[in-house]
Amino acid sequence: MPVTVIIGAQWGDEGKGKIVDMLTDRVDMVARYQGGANAGHTVVVDGEVYILHLIPSGILHTGKVCVIGNGVVVDPEALIREIDELEGRGFSVKGRLFVSSRAHLIAPYHKIMDVAGETASGAGKIGTTGRGIGPAYADKAARLGVRIGDLFRPDYLRERVAAALAPKNALLTHLYGQKPVDIDEAVEWYLAQAVRLADYAADTGELLRHALRDDKEILAEGAQGSMLDVDHGTFPYVTSSTATVGGAVAGLGIPPMEIKRVIAIMKAYTTRVGEGPFPTELTEGDGPRLRKLGGEFGATTGRPRRCGWFDAVVGRYAVEINGVSEIALTKLDVLDGFDEIPVCVDYAIDGKRLGRMPEDMSLLDKVTPVYETMKGWNASTTETDRYSDLPENARRYIGRIEELVGAKISIVSTGKARDATILRW
Ligand code: IMP
Repeated sequence: MPVTVIIGAQWGDEGKGKIVDMLTDRVDMVARYQGGANAGHTVVVDGEVYILHLIPSGILHTGKVCVIGNGVVVDPEALIREIDELEGRGFSVKGRLFVSSRAHLIAPYHKIMDVAGETASGAGKIGTTGRGIGPAYADKAARLGVRIGDLFRPDYLRERVAAALAPKNALLTHLYGQKPVDIDEAVEWYLAQAVRLADYAADTGELLRHALRDDKEILAEGAQGSMLDVDHGTFPYVTSSTATVGGAVAGLGIPPMEIKRVIAIMKAYTTRVGEGPFPTELTEGDGPRLRKLGGEFGATTGRPRRCGWFDAVVGRYAVEINGVSEIALTKLDVLDGFDEIPVCVDYAIDGKRLGRMPEDMSLLDKVTPVYETMKGWNASTTETDRYSDLPENARRYIGRIEELVGAKISIVSTGKARDATILRW
């Protein structure tokens, strides 16, 4: 199985970090393919909590090679902070982490543009993480971005920065009423990053292709989730990258035929951060209860996550667009104390069932979820590691989700620790 891709099947925060960490033992390399420091992957190892934003959680496994691919937008200050923290906690990073020279950089001016753009949008804001993600990807598409490889060619770097700053300074001064960004300061900032990044920059596409040629196993790690994908998600309330499986091919530089397995991570209920439609959202009662029980606060921004019941329309859609071969269902234990657990099986507008995910995502604001109510199990599943030890109603819940979304649940996560996991293969 040369390449296994891990994707989030909902709006992010499905618990990908733990599953990637768990599967890392079975692979040689872990490669992140899109997004940036907007992601926050929480992993608990021997009771120690690690929150990683850019570096694949595979770094916590001695000897595994980790890659940040060309499809990622890299905030070098965030990356260096993460490297320093890992090294401070005893992990070797140099020689095990490689960052694509083709990856675009996020500079302080991207964060300024992100926040200024959101402020100017008022009620129409996206609710971004403010990490400069959208403006950095916009620069990449507009061919105004600065790539990691550019840091090592100072004259060319200055040209790139001048091109990037011209339209931004016009916007900052004329539209947003802010100070322009000084080119000398910006170039100096970039050059300061070069000093630390030099040890990590590489042609990671070639590294991965050579590894595949040598029959190495690669885990490709997606960030965010399918409903935040720039094409297939709840546009415009999405992130600016391809969080679905296709992002792995473009964002790592590997051939599609090498992907043999796609594992979708789905939380046993649904959450989302930021603005945008969310049909099964529960603003009162069980919503806040799920938030409290599940500790649903953003790992990156600390924002409270919006919570609701499992949405099988979303799940089925994610299975279809990603060609999901199996599912990891996470946080099952959060549902332990509920007498009844509704599952959204379809959407309806004016009593008429849609039977599918509408392509006009604005309809998601108008739909009413059609629920099927499952009996709860009122027993602790926390840290259960055998499927047969799960209460019957929990097994029924799992079976019904499999039927509704059309893929097998081969991993069930019942707690934060590595071994709080049921494997069904
Ligand atoms: P951006 O990626 O910062 O531009 O934010 C765009 C949208 O994606 C906002 O709704 C964010 O809350 C959401 N988002 C970005 N990264 C994550 C993540 O890792 N988990 C959950 N939501 C995210």
